[in-house]
Amino acid sequence: MCGIVGYIGNKNVYPVLINGLKKLEYRGYDSAGIALCNNGIHVYKQKGKVSDLEAFIADKEINGNIGIGHTRWATHGEPNDINAHPHSSMNNKFSLVHNGIVENYADLKNDLIKKGFTFLSDTDTEVLANLIEYFYEQDEEVTAEYAVRLALSRVVGAYGIVVISHDEQNKLIAARKGSPLVIGIGKGEYYVASDAGPIVEFTEHVVYLNDYDIAIIEKDSFTLRNIENNPVSVKIQQLNLEIGELDKGEFEHFMLKEIFEQPKTIADTFRGRLRPGQHDIVLGGLIDVLPQIVNAERIIIIGCGTSWHAALIGEYLIEEYARIPVEVEYASEFRYRNPILSEKDVVIAISQSGETADTIAALNMAKEKGALLLGICNVVGSTISRETRAGVYTHAGIEIGVASTKAFSAQVTVLTMLALKIAWEKNTISEDLYSTLIKELSAIPENARTILMNHPHIKEVAEKYKNAVNALYLGRGYLFPVALEGALKLKEISYIHAEGYAAGEMKHGPIALIDDNLPVIVVAPQDNYYEKIVSNIQEVKARKGNIIAVITEGDKRLREMVEDVLEIPKSHPAVAPLLAVIPLQLLAYHIAILRGCNVDQPRNLAKSVTVE
Ligand code: AGP
Repeated sequence: MCGIVGYIGNKNVYPVLINGLKKLEYRGYDSAGIALCNNGIHVYKQKGKVSDLEAFIADKEINGNIGIGHTRWATHGEPNDINAHPHSSMNNKFSLVHNGIVENYADLKNDLIKKGFTFLSDTDTEVLANLIEYFYEQDEEVTAEYAVRLALSRVVGAYGIVVISHDEQNKLIAARKGSPLVIGIGKGEYYVASDAGPIVEFTEHVVYLNDYDIAIIEKDSFTLRNIENNPVSVKIQQLNLEIGELDKGEFEHFMLKEIFEQPKTIADTFRGRLRPGQHDIVLGGLIDVLPQIVNAERIIIIGCGTSWHAALIGEYLIEEYARIPVEVEYASEFRYRNPILSEKDVVIAISQSGETADTIAALNMAKEKGALLLGICNVVGSTISRETRAGVYTHAGIEIGVASTKAFSAQVTVLTMLALKIAWEKNTISEDLYSTLIKELSAIPENARTILMNHPHIKEVAEKYKNAVNALYLGRGYLFPVALEGALKLKEISYIHAEGYAAGEMKHGPIALIDDNLPVIVVAPQDNYYEKIVSNIQEVKARKGNIIAVITEGDKRLREMVEDVLEIPKSHPAVAPLLAVIPLQLLAYHIAILRGCNVDQPRNLAKSVTVE
């Protein structure tokens, strides 16, 4: 995934572009660049972060009121100066920035080479720039917009692009198919960006582009057409983002800020939906389809990465309380299988960004098979939230750290409410237990704050394990997915190889890994699996494994058995994941910091994988 920004108006465009790119850098950060219109097109781009680009430009005379910018997560072509965006066409008639993937770029490139075009980079984006120029040069009647439309009609794949034209320097042309683009509407000025981050400080009125939309944007007007050149109605929406969400505040990293935001996040997620003392859980986005959900023969939850881990917790909750069979599928697998689906099935796509390519593709496949499609997303107006029949927003606020933390907690909170809601409607849960679980869920923000107060201790534990080469995470029941999530956090920000495993599975292989060099993190609160997991801990101890245990506050027995403990308040097992995950997030964060890793922008990763 990459970050795109564009501006047209009366301001000096450079600060708008460079500051906009800084707000989008979490989407991709291996190279960056800008292009401006000012008696021609001027391009400045290079490998490295946005701050490196800023330093590169510092001594240059930069003027203009129209421009585009890009921060990259490489798909085609390694990160270097040449492959950085913006890309210009061979005769510099066009310059563009692109988020997505042109799957048929090789055929298009060969065809253009035969037509005499030359290329400087290895990217699919440069092919698109030359294709636009090719159509533009066919006839002097062809406008820049028409050339863009003709070129895009040849593209197979996903794109979110903003184009500037040498011959029509008074406009931006923006188009999307599969990669998000949002237009900010100012007074005599317009902003374009991959998400609302760069826009929110200037305007709260936005238009989200849909697939095949093409926007022609001038200083005092913009028109929306589709790829067949038919007018598209403009739907202006109000942003619900606060500018303060876009900075780190007193925290050193976005990831740490977002870990500490979790008490508030969980409270925001259930605010207005869960009312202690009242039985009704209100999930407004599902009201129209609740009967279909309650009577579903099966629920299939599709997602990737952390969202898939949240889905697994959802499976355990819905099956235990609502008694509906649930299957959890990796979207990247589900999309290519030929699964047996029917209109009696409910398919839930769970995604923080709402833009993950695999999840969108799996959803589209399910749509063809007639299933009811629901979305659990964090980003309002995201593709998945708009492609599904109904859904629930997680209200976690913008999550900038690439490693998902508060969004995971918000997803689990929604899934917990959903399981209880369905169980209540199906009468598969007693009133006592229902009330207990609502009370337990309502107490999570306070209990989470208690854990966060233990932050200095977790930092000390991290010091002991910062040089680990491998790590094994174990959990049972609801805490097995938490073990998976803890392992993912460690590996994606500290680059230590970490595996999450069902603790009961350890004797079927992973126990061979145990020795005095292997930290074993066991999620072991006092729940119905406690005695079993204590046995697992004894098996690890017998082989000299170093054990870090997430334990219930006051558990003296485990405290004496293991090397290090991370305590969480006692809670009902069904809501324990929301507590147990927090010390694992902090452990991964501190180990990564001690290893000098960039926790907000880990190598090779992007916040949302909008390409395959
Ligand atoms: C989680 O920390 C990772 N950033 C990654 O696994 C992420 O959860 C996955 O790419 C899914 O993203 P989504 O929730 O936006 O669909």
